[in-house]
Amino acid sequence: MSHISNVELKAAPDFSQETDFIAVGMFKDSGVPESLAALDAAMDGLISAVRERKNFTGKKDESLVLHGQGQVARVALIGLGEPEKFTLDLARQAAGNAVKAARAQKAVRCELLQPDCDLDGADLAQALTEGLILASYKFDAHKKKEEDAVDLTGLALLGDVDAASAGRGTIVANAACLTRELQNEPANIMTPTRLAAEAERIGQAANMKTTIWDREGIEKLGMGALLGVALGSNEPPRFMTIEYSGGAKGDAPFAIVGKGLTFDSGGISIKASANMDEMKFDMSGGAVVLGVMEAIAHLQPKINIIAAVPSTENLLGGSAQRPGDIVKAYNGKTIEILNTDAEGRLILADALSYVVDVHKPAAIVDLATLTGAVLIALGHRASGMLGNDDDLLAEVQAAADHTGERVWQLPLWEEYSEDIKSKVADVKNIGSGRLAGTVAGAVFLKEFVGDMPWVHLDIAGTAWQDKDQPYVPGGGSGVGVRLLTSLLLERAG
Ligand code: BES
Ligand code: MN
Ligand code: ZN
Repeated sequence: MSHISNVELKAAPDFSQETDFIAVGMFKDSGVPESLAALDAAMDGLISAVRERKNFTGKKDESLVLHGQGQVARVALIGLGEPEKFTLDLARQAAGNAVKAARAQKAVRCELLQPDCDLDGADLAQALTEGLILASYKFDAHKKKEEDAVDLTGLALLGDVDAASAGRGTIVANAACLTRELQNEPANIMTPTRLAAEAERIGQAANMKTTIWDREGIEKLGMGALLGVALGSNEPPRFMTIEYSGGAKGDAPFAIVGKGLTFDSGGISIKASANMDEMKFDMSGGAVVLGVMEAIAHLQPKINIIAAVPSTENLLGGSAQRPGDIVKAYNGKTIEILNTDAEGRLILADALSYVVDVHKPAAIVDLATLTGAVLIALGHRASGMLGNDDDLLAEVQAAADHTGERVWQLPLWEEYSEDIKSKVADVKNIGSGRLAGTVAGAVFLKEFVGDMPWVHLDIAGTAWQDKDQPYVPGGGSGVGVRLLTSLLLERAG
C-alpha cells in the first residue's frame, strides 16, 4: 500500500482505556490546555513537567515523544507555533509531523487529537485529514518488504470533528496520492499508454466519459506539434480527454489541461546527464489533471469539466525531429522548432487549441513542468502563475491561499510576445536566449488559447520535492490536485 486511504473519526478518549500512540498539538509557550488535562493526569503530570522544564516549547516542527507507565503508552507532543500565526497549512504540517513521529516510534496506528484553535472547524478537519493521509504516502511499489517491518496502517482523528469536511479531505488527499504514484513510477512503466489506461479507469465513474486518440487519431486531428515530439520515441503517443457533466446541460465547461510528457531527454537538443532521471516527472501536469478527475468522480460537484492530457516521450534517434523543423499545430499555426527541449509547449499547443475549438470552455487552467527557469525564480516552494484574465488569476490565487499550494504571479505583457516571433513560421518555440524563460513559455501557450480566460501554472519546481516536507515526502508532490479541486468546488457552489 502506498498510503493509508482512510482516517477513522472518533470522539476524544477518556484515557482510561489503553492507548498505544496519540499525538497532540500544543502551541508555543502555552500552559497545558484544559482539553489535555485528562491526558496529562493519565501520564502522571509528565506533560506539564516537560513544559515547565522547557524540554518542549511548542515551536513549529518541534516534536517530543513521551512514554507513559499506565494506560497511555506513548504521547507525541507536536509543536503548533504561535497561536496567532496558526494557519490551515500549519495544521496540515502538524498532522504530517504526527505521522512522522508515529512511524519513528514504530506505531501501527497514529491517533491525532484535533487541537483547539481559532480556525474554522470545517476547514480544520479537512486540513488535518489531508495532512494525515498525505504524510502517510510512500513510494514503495518496487521494493521488497522488509521482514518483521512494523508498518503504520491506521490513522484516526479524535475530537469533535466535522465529518463531512474530513470526508472531503480524505477524497482529495487520496486523489493527490494517486497523482504522486503516477508521477513516481518511472518512464518505462508510466508510459502514455499507462496514463491513458488510468484516464479510462477514472472515466468509468458516473457522469464521466473518456476518449483516447492513438497516433493515427492524433494525425487525423491535425496535431502536428504533438506528433513532431512523438517522432523520436517508439512508445506510442496518446491524447486523452475526460468529460465530466455534473452541471446544467449546455453550460460551458471548465477546462483543465496537463502536460503528460512521460520522459524528457531533451530530444536532439539533448539535456545534460546529471539528474536526467528527474525528467520522469515531466508528466506531472497530466498526472495532476487525472488526480483532479479522480477527486471529481467521488465528489460529483455541479459543474461541467473538460480535462485533456497530451502524452508522449521526448527522445532522440534517427526519426526524431530536428532543430529548424517546422510543424503545424491543431489551430493551423506554424511553429519553428529551435530547441527540441522546449517540447512541453508544443504538445500543449495542440491540446489547448483543441479544447478551445471543440469544447468552447468558460475558462482554462493548464499545468505543466514547463521551464527550468521557474526553479531559478521560485525554487520548490511556489508554482509560477501567468494568465490573461484578472478574475481567473484571482480565483486561482484564492484557491492557492486556501489550500497552501502556493503560486506566484509573473507578468505576461504584450511586449514579451515579440520574443517568440519567427522569421520562417508564425512562432518559434523559444524566447530570447535564457531571459525570462518562464514568461517565454507562457506567451507561446497564449498563442493557442485565443481570447479564452486562461491561467498557466508552471509547476516545474513544485511537482516534486528533493527533500521530505512535513506532509510531502521527497518525490512526486501531487501539487495542483488540492488547488484545482478546491477551485472547481468553489465554482460549482
Ligand atoms: N521539462 C522541462 C522543464 C524542466 C526543467 C522541468 C527542469 C523540471 C526541471 C522542459 O521541457 C524544458 O526542457 N524546458 C527548457 C526550455 C528551453 C529549452 C527554452 C528549459 O527550461 O531549459
Ligand atoms: Mn524539455
Ligand atoms: Zn519537458
